[in-house]
Amino acid sequence: MNHTGVDKLIYGVRDRDAASRFWTDFGLEPDGGGSGHAAWCAANGATIELRSADDPDLPPPVGADVDATLREVTFGVQAAADIDALEDALSPDHEVRRDAEGGIRTTDPLGFGLAFRVTRNRPVAAPEQDVNVPGRATRVNRRAPRVDRARPLEVSHVVYVTDELEAHKEFYVDRLGFRVTDMYPGRGYFTRCSAAHHHHNLFLLNPGGGKRGFHHVAFEVGTIHDLFGGGNNMTRQGWKTMLGPGRHPISSCYFWYFHNPSGGAAEYDFDSDVVDDDWEAATWESKPENFAEWCLAEGMGEALLYDGIQRG
Ligand SMILES: [Fe+2]
Repeated sequence: MNHTGVDKLIYGVRDRDAASRFWTDFGLEPDGGGSGHAAWCAANGATIELRSADDPDLPPPVGADVDATLREVTFGVQAAADIDALEDALSPDHEVRRDAEGGIRTTDPLGFGLAFRVTRNRPVAAPEQDVNVPGRATRVNRRAPRVDRARPLEVSHVVYVTDELEAHKEFYVDRLGFRVTDMYPGRGYFTRCSAAHHHHNLFLLNPGGGKRGFHHVAFEVGTIHDLFGGGNNMTRQGWKTMLGPGRHPISSCYFWYFHNPSGGAAEYDFDSDVVDDDWEAATWESKPENFAEWCLAEGMGEALLYDGIQRG
């Protein structure tokens, strides 16, 4: 079962105008895929689709955010044979529907919509990293770029809050073949698709208190300038930071999260770990310094005043 990563996300929303403006400001491009729904895509073709929160074709919302939340994740696979294998693994106790294009749809143990299709994502490459450090100058006689708007390259991961952590992990890992890459014992599992090399494509988090629902989606950007420039642009456009900028010790990336009117949050990531089967999963104590080496709680704050931005 060679899954390749996140191909598509479908949100159910009531305020489509706000959600549309968010994704445009975030740096995604309008998708002309002809689905009949408003959609945007990252540079590799990974797609964000918006539908009405009342759309009867969507799985019911999981969690309290019934007016705006993620309803379905489509993971790509390498070949049609992988779809067949996943269908065989799911069918004994799940309703599995074939769609017109040969993909399958079902729901996971908490009711999150889950689909697989032969991937439509395209290989994508970030620009050459021109960085000047002593002995390794790669940007000579040229100024460093400024970024006014990020260009997310790909969707790297989705995060679910779950109150059935072990059952949820067994479903994705033991049954569907996802790989655990790191873990907080009793609290969270970072997992990746078997044929993907992101540190994680799906993180299952149990914060306690019986909570469940969609938490966030993350996009990888190509330069540190995209992360900071994109985050500053989102702030200029009036979007509120959920957390960041900052840096995660687990997966190593710089991050910046924004509250998303489509549901949950959307995250810019830069310089995440890339892993393969030789990666050694570690167990981590769940404590703030393992979540963030450092971070700003509410964006760049007063520093933004120097960029002409007044915070409300
Ligand atoms: Fe994340």
